[in-house]
Amino acid sequence: MGSGRPTAATAKQHKTAAAKKLVLPCIIGLLGFALIADLLWAASSPSPASSTPFVLISHSPFPNHTHSAPATFKAKDAADKHVKTNQRLLSATFSDLPAPLLEWEKMAPAPVPRLDGAAIQIGHLLYVFAGYGTIDYVHSHVDIYNFTDNTWGGRFDMPKEMAHSHLGMVTDGRYVYVVTGQYGPQCRGPTARTFVLDTQTQQWSNMPPLPLPRYAPATQLWRGRLHVMGGSKENRHTPGLEHWSIAVKDGKALEKEWRTEVPIPRGGPHRACVVVDDRLYVIGGQEGDFMAKPGSPIFKCSRRNEVVYGDVYMLDDDMNWKVLPPMPKPDSHIEFAWKIVNNSIIIVGGTTEKHPETKKMTLVGEVFQFQLDTLKWSVVGKLPYRVKTTLVGFWNGWLYFTSGQRDRGPDDPAPRKVIGEMWRTKLHL
Ligand SMILES: *[C@@H]1O[C@H](CO)[C@@H](O)[C@H](O)[C@H]1NC(C)=O
Ligand SMILES: *[C@@H]1O[C@H](CO)[C@@H](O)[C@H](O)[C@H]1NC(C)=O
Ligand SMILES: *[C@@H]1O[C@H](CO)[C@@H](O)[C@H](O)[C@H]1NC(C)=O
Repeated sequence: MGSGRPTAATAKQHKTAAAKKLVLPCIIGLLGFALIADLLWAASSPSPASSTPFVLISHSPFPNHTHSAPATFKAKDAADKHVKTNQRLLSATFSDLPAPLLEWEKMAPAPVPRLDGAAIQIGHLLYVFAGYGTIDYVHSHVDIYNFTDNTWGGRFDMPKEMAHSHLGMVTDGRYVYVVTGQYGPQCRGPTARTFVLDTQTQQWSNMPPLPLPRYAPATQLWRGRLHVMGGSKENRHTPGLEHWSIAVKDGKALEKEWRTEVPIPRGGPHRACVVVDDRLYVIGGQEGDFMAKPGSPIFKCSRRNEVVYGDVYMLDDDMNWKVLPPMPKPDSHIEFAWKIVNNSIIIVGGTTEKHPETKKMTLVGEVFQFQLDTLKWSVVGKLPYRVKTTLVGFWNGWLYFTSGQRDRGPDDPAPRKVIGEMWRTKLHL
């Protein structure tokens, strides 16, 4: 397959074609959203600051939400509402669950901070891909962490046409399949392009593109096929229900086209998708996401309604989706935040439902365990802080996480700083 690195010219052609393809669906999508968005803005945006999607590197003052009720609550029945509001506002950390303390050890930070990156563990190496550095800058390379000597080392480029965030990604232990995702910073459009990385040679090659581009679809290898399902559609917000698969072996597609499979019961991005014991699980996620502001030349992210959920679905022999017990609380942004340990799925952090009063995004500060024999969920520990889109590894009894976006502090679960920190804890299940 050679270097598999297309030229700059083909990249440009592709981008132009992709942009043209996106225009119409985007316009239709945006028209549909205009009304809903207006209502949302009115109801849920006390200030422009709180509608900023990531608040990446911001030194601007933020309104004091903890003590000032949003305008919508100052209407009639003021006294009554005031009491209610204060009761609910008393705890900005309303969604934290009781969790055992874990002893966390701070390791060497990643060379760059990343939000919405991707990660694949192969043996003692954790490959971390892409991601936002800031809302206006995206990474186009891979960094490698070595669990044996606990150092970062080795860095190589991604293909120029590969998406920079919201990727679907899975490995067979040598080859990494990389599907679709968002191309560029802010809330830019997606690409359907699909790639394979041979981790032994660090060479990239191409695969047939996904039938339609998606943001952060659930992606797994199952029974010799690469499965891609859900995610957000081309406008970044509308949940997709489609499910496709293609036969793959040793880093190559064995078919020319993707096959249509049984649709997923609930669409949307940012879920964990796990195969264990010949069963495919899809966990958590959300419907809706930030969208590009209509007419913005930089595709500026603007907030739209989103609903986070804790649903768990499973596919087995009869290819019908089964519903399993839900997570202890709704949890999204966990696509690379899980590991299989001792017949359990371990999930680290994420985002849960927005704060009922401030409407700000609320991060998750717990580690969850789903026992595959009993189908029971439990909370197994507290993180050093609440954090979303972490990239997780497990090696020699240690649970590691790096990257993502952390909270504003112990009393404020809203997102703030994009991190490159690496932490580990000895896990005892
Ligand atoms: C928010 O406002 C209250 C009351 O005005 C004040 O006591 C508190 O210190 C403020 N908090 C912050 C973080 O500014
Ligand atoms: C990881 O670290 C170990 C211990 O220093 C070393 O033997 C090994 O070669 C390293 N692996 C890679 C791929 O760098
Ligand atoms: C997994 O199970 C083995 C065998 O029971 C045990 O020794 C080990 O500590 C367990 N691992 C974790 C992380 O709890």
